[in-house]
Amino acid sequence: MEAKINTAVLTISTRSSAGVREDTSGPALCELVMQKLGKVVHYKVVPDDRDRIISEIKKICDDGMADVIFTLGGTGLAPSDVTPEATRIVIDREVPGISETLRLKSMEKTDRAMLSRGISGVRKNTLIINMPGSEKAVKECFDIVRPVLGHAVELIKGQVKDCGRKDE
Ligand code: MTE
Repeated sequence: MEAKINTAVLTISTRSSAGVREDTSGPALCELVMQKLGKVVHYKVVPDDRDRIISEIKKICDDGMADVIFTLGGTGLAPSDVTPEATRIVIDREVPGISETLRLKSMEKTDRAMLSRGISGVRKNTLIINMPGSEKAVKECFDIVRPVLGHAVELIKGQVKDCGRKDE
């Protein structure tokens, strides 16, 4: 495992937050994070409500609780899908390459990857990454993004100046 990364997982689902549907994606991602990334410092199920999502993300970032927040779900085209809009309000800087790559590589699994409108960005010292909500999508997206997370977190914290690529 690389440097330990403190991670928060927010499942965005009105039905799961109401207890109507079990959240399997959040626990599956928490398990992967613990195996391959570091500590899960926070896990919560939040309804598809723009203001609730904004306040949950802000709280985590502004308390310095986590290095990375994964949001799961609410990135599609349903009228209730507002995760990207909420995320855009709270980030200081966007990191388009992460979400572009999630979509591009996910296309190898399903054409429907192009229907995810997820974005990524930084608020204070925390990197926020929107993922689609299904358990399958979450696992696939985690595998895609995991290799860059350690370096991304170091850069955000100002801990490295050069990228240290071996081929340079
Ligand atoms: N990306 C990956 N890697 N795997 C998937 O199964 N599902 C897609 C897409 N991205 C999927 C994926 C589907 S079916 C939808 S509708 C969108 O993500 C949005 O999902 P969300 O509304 O749960 O955020």
